Amino acid sequence: MTTKLDWEGRVGRSWASQWEKTDRSFGGLTDALLSKTRGTTAPRVLDIGCGAGELSLAFARGNSAAEIVGLDVSEELIEVARSRALRLSNIDFVHGDASQWSREFFAPDLLMSRHGVMFFEDPVAAFSHLRSISSRDARLVFSCFRSFQENSWAERVAGFLPPDSFVEPDRFSPGPFAFSDQSHVHGILSDAGWSEINFEAIDYAFVAGVGEDAVQEALDYFQVIGPAARPALGLSPDEKAKFLGKLARYLQAHEDGGIVALKAAAWIVTARNRPR
Ligand SMILES: C[S@@+](CC[C@H](N)C(=O)[O-])C[C@H]1O[C@@H](n2cnc3c(N)ncnc32)[C@H](O)[C@@H]1O
Repeated sequence: MTTKLDWEGRVGRSWASQWEKTDRSFGGLTDALLSKTRGTTAPRVLDIGCGAGELSLAFARGNSAAEIVGLDVSEELIEVARSRALRLSNIDFVHGDASQWSREFFAPDLLMSRHGVMFFEDPVAAFSHLRSISSRDARLVFSCFRSFQENSWAERVAGFLPPDSFVEPDRFSPGPFAFSDQSHVHGILSDAGWSEINFEAIDYAFVAGVGEDAVQEALDYFQVIGPAARPALGLSPDEKAKFLGKLARYLQAHEDGGIVALKAAAWIVTARNRPR
């Protein structure tokens, strides 16, 4: 389970320290998300759980007239995002909880998120709130992981830990895999009042390491980010050495031309705020 409190603390700090690498890992989703936003105008845009700001920044590049708010509960990530947007006057990165945040005269026409919506304690309440602050006909576009098993990279990385140090994520508790079940997510959005709910399955390359030391980079990365990061903190030196040995062999097998890329599975989910 990964909650808002984790993101406000250790997990948010880890992501802020690794933001260039997390952008690389999730970069394959950015165009897939942006492609769903093309074709209609969206004067006001909310990026939910914007992290270090990549999706907001990418959207701003192609939509200079849009007013964009990137919202996140991690102060450290918001600081990074702000530092990346110094020359852009149409993005505002804001520290806040998306399940409660609102701003006068800012009803988003587009709500988007790259993997930032799976951590709400009460997802129906959060998505109801987000719909309530949106403009009529607003579009919702977000990505989230499909199941732990379909993301065999995550299952393998965690599987190298000693058996008693890792518990497979619960499919419905807040965390990276909380939105893997299509009918569960459909139910959440529908109960929250969203319409025209659609799911598109996409596979993308989760890049874990790049360059001459790509395998070492990926090894370092998975000790800070991903399903083994928290359990690895509690390993004894001997357990850690065994874990890293197994992980290194797995990563070596996936290194090609100076890139360690692992096949990842996501949903791109779209919905609309239509009057019922
Ligand atoms: C997996 S990260 C994705 C970050 C970013 N969208 C990206 O693609 O790099 C999830 C993000 O959601 C944020 N988050 C979690 N719960 C949130 C909430 N209730 N309100 C706003 N942001 C939240 C976290 O702080 C984190 O930055």
